[in-house]
Amino acid sequence: MSSLANPVNWVLAAVLGYITYNYFSASPPPPPPTPRPKFPTLVFKEYTPKELTEFDGRTSETRILIAINTKVFDVTRGRNFYGPDGPYGNFAGRDASRGLAKNSFDKSVLVAVDGPIDKLEDLTDEEKESLSDWAMHFEGKYQLVGKLIENKD
Ligand code: HEM
Repeated sequence: MSSLANPVNWVLAAVLGYITYNYFSASPPPPPPTPRPKFPTLVFKEYTPKELTEFDGRTSETRILIAINTKVFDVTRGRNFYGPDGPYGNFAGRDASRGLAKNSFDKSVLVAVDGPIDKLEDLTDEEKESLSDWAMHFEGKYQLVGKLIENKD
């Protein structure tokens, strides 16, 4: 029997033709548009405690900054932790040093935003160590974007 007469070859030829047609005719999907980053990288700057409160993640459009030992970190990508419904939302836009030192997210541990920067002089050695461990955690995970300075008025 000639190869043309063999129906198996017809089927194989049809399958090959179909695959070849699809390979050459299917246009590649257009590349997805490059999304504009929602939160572009911040330029390092100084923030007063009052200014920092603007960055409390109150909406999904609001960045979240946190100060630890006067270092300001952009923790926006940790919104699950620091967003309004997160367990540590009280730290958003605030100096979190004392809370982290005392391992407390109780609001009473936060210092007033219109007062002087917390000097943390009364912390025990254990609390100082806890704070420094947390500072290392944040340095390793989040971007340092600023320095906390005293309120201007
Ligand atoms: C009730 C006990 C607590 C539980 C079960 C708990 C649980 C957790 C868990 C599961 C994580 C995520 C760890 C990771 O994936 O890296 C975390 C992170 C964290 N916790 Fe707690 N926690 C507790 C108490 C506290 C307290 C009292 C504080 C107060 C300062 C605190 C502050 C933090 C912070 C700052 C982070 C890091 C978030 C980040 O990486 O941005 N936690 N906690």
